[in-house]
Amino acid sequence: MSYTASVVGASGFTGGELVRLLAGHPEFEVRQATSRSKENRTVGHAHPNLRDLDLRFSSPADLESVDVLFAATPHGVSMERIDAFREAAGTVVDLSADFRLDTEAQYDKWYDGHTRPELLDEAVYALPELTREQLPGADLVASGGCNATATILGLLPLFEADVLSGDEQVVVDVKVGSSEGGAGGGEASSHPERSGVVRPYAPTGHRHEAEIEQFLGIDVSFTVHAVDMTRGASATCHVFPDGPVSKGDLWGAYRGSYEDEPFVELVAGGGGVYRYPEPKAVAGTNRAEVGFELDPENERLVVFSAIDNMMKGSAGQAVHAANVALGIEETAGLAFGGLHPVGAP
Ligand SMILES: NC(=O)c1ccc[n+]([C@@H]2O[C@H](COP(=O)([O-])OP(=O)(O)OC[C@H]3O[C@@H](n4cnc5c(N)ncnc54)[C@H](OP(=O)(O)O)[C@@H]3O)[C@@H](O)[C@H]2O)c1
Repeated sequence: MSYTASVVGASGFTGGELVRLLAGHPEFEVRQATSRSKENRTVGHAHPNLRDLDLRFSSPADLESVDVLFAATPHGVSMERIDAFREAAGTVVDLSADFRLDTEAQYDKWYDGHTRPELLDEAVYALPELTREQLPGADLVASGGCNATATILGLLPLFEADVLSGDEQVVVDVKVGSSEGGAGGGEASSHPERSGVVRPYAPTGHRHEAEIEQFLGIDVSFTVHAVDMTRGASATCHVFPDGPVSKGDLWGAYRGSYEDEPFVELVAGGGGVYRYPEPKAVAGTNRAEVGFELDPENERLVVFSAIDNMMKGSAGQAVHAANVALGIEETAGLAFGGLHPVGAP
């Protein structure tokens, strides 16, 4: 093992996934997993899939000195505790939105402001397919949001191949599973209320719109539906290009962007049941599926992207980012497939 790690907020959903990934990672040793409400309980008490781990929750007030601290805490905690986090670890990887945006003005607009705006310049946004070059050596890493990740991965090749310039109309509809609300999800996430729904929970004004606009440089019309899945985010992007686009252009664009990417697969209308990206196919993995279809009659292009919000949308992405930041093999600890067949993810 080369690096020691701690997970703050380890009793939560993404924290549990971080512990799972780091415990199986060839280069990390998990030294600390924090929870205020479950202090001294075993990690397996909160995460039954981790019962074999000999690790107990400790208080986030007593941080051990480690190489990398992963913060999987609700919005606002990291910006309050960032000095303690950085004192405890040379590298901090934050899964919350606290350091994703560039400016205090954006936090004023989309969140409730920011208490440490002077650190926003230092933080490196982690969506490795987009910001890989900036990650090596980064000591404050802001792991990208799940809905933003699904959307950006779907649309990015269109910008890289100049199919989109930024002026075109783009309408994005994301369907998400209930784990996106975290382990402490409220009434809307309780099983009887969530079961069977296709509920527009953020018809407009979802905060991830800010990330998408910041990194792609476009205005997107963005809607999020809560659906009856546990894991997963599925983005459908309706794109209206200015000029004609052929399937050849699209294959060129997507292959050009992703053929060397270890965690992105092109799934675009092949045979079989799973012809387009689907969260079920990537559940439990750090893989994203991306695909597209042309609608020439309506001069529309429809792009699909599917991820597991707990993995490529949070914990997996954070470990991937840490691998790149520390110079570890990018796929270390993340190169495993999912299950098939499997029930609802
Ligand atoms: N869920 C997703 O799909 C997803 C995807 C991308 C990013 N994220 C982001 O990742 C973060 C964690 O999300 P989650 O879904 O894992 O949330 P969660 O399940 O609610 O877990 C939150 C964790 O933080 C701990 N915590 C809460 N307040 C704290 C404080 N003041 N100090 C220290 N620890 C505190 C909680 O445990 P104790 O209260 O016992 O300490 C718990 O372990 C959030 O910022 C979220 O926006 C989530």
